[in-house]
Amino acid sequence: MPGASQHGAPVTVTAEAYGKVNLLLGVGDARTDGYHELTTVFQSMDLRETVTITRVESKTGIQGLTADSVFDDHVPTDSTNLAWRAVELVREVAREHAAQGAQLRNSPDVGLRIDIRKGVPMAGGMAGGSADAAAAIVAVAEFFWPSEFVPIEELHARAVTLGADVPFCLLGGTALGTGIGEDLSPILTRGTYHWVMVTNKKGLSTPTVFKKLDEQRQLAAEGQRPDVRVGDPGQVIKALRSGSAELLAAQLGNDLQAPAVSLLPELRETLGLAHQAGALRAIVSGSGPTVAVLCHDEEHAVEVLASITGAARGVRAVLATSPASGARVVART
Ligand code: C5P
Repeated sequence: MPGASQHGAPVTVTAEAYGKVNLLLGVGDARTDGYHELTTVFQSMDLRETVTITRVESKTGIQGLTADSVFDDHVPTDSTNLAWRAVELVREVAREHAAQGAQLRNSPDVGLRIDIRKGVPMAGGMAGGSADAAAAIVAVAEFFWPSEFVPIEELHARAVTLGADVPFCLLGGTALGTGIGEDLSPILTRGTYHWVMVTNKKGLSTPTVFKKLDEQRQLAAEGQRPDVRVGDPGQVIKALRSGSAELLAAQLGNDLQAPAVSLLPELRETLGLAHQAGALRAIVSGSGPTVAVLCHDEEHAVEVLASITGAARGVRAVLATSPASGARVVART
């Protein structure tokens, strides 16, 4: 830790956080605030976001954001970026602590720059933006509190205001998520799972996918279509304890798959291609449009990736393994 003493304020802090796949995503009814109750099994994937926060002397507030994507994605560099909003949230918590008399390492208004290196494709369904927010939270917290005094529970509780997946990206590993995804219980798992994550150039809006599900459920209530819902998470949790990709494949499920496919019918083709390529199972990841393709092992994943990208136009695919870790500081100067 060159240049930083135990209680000294850092100049630069770098943190990492990871994308995720929902192995099971059960959606309940809409609440009055428009959000839906979820029962979901999250698992983090080794697609990594790296966020570096640097102190800018003699300035106040956020002094800019840069983003560099390994996939050449166009990333917003203004206050709409979730990492920017995450830094503002942590400043707000610091301001509240200062108002209550806490001694902070820096003023909550300290000048800060944010630099992001994205390893999660900007594709929807893998929580890349939420991982940026999670990494930004743990990095920027070090500017206000020494590591051992970071109010981690308070930050976890507040993180959900940035997005329903941010608390999980902070935690990482594998977890059962309830509420809107923020009430998390870690799950013990065995083994490493190998995936091909197939992205689609055409995006899908998360609120629109949830709304479509509500419409489909209304039609089901009127008897105009079957009301198909994923089961309880017990079987997924059991499969995860076995470490067998084959057992896990049989238990994957997503209530948002039907509305996502209905809004973007070419996803049906991608799911079909994955099956033809010999995948164990393919499902829409989160609210899509990314499709998560589970494979036997790494070699199999490489073959499946080649087969899918060779057969389909407009799709891009990356290899990933799960689980991965939560947000953590990796360097400090
Ligand atoms: O929290 P996040 O920004 O990911 O959510 C985007 C939108 O997705 C919400 O505004 C809401 O319409 C929908 N959503 C939902 N129920 C959830 C999570 C998200 O209805 N549990």
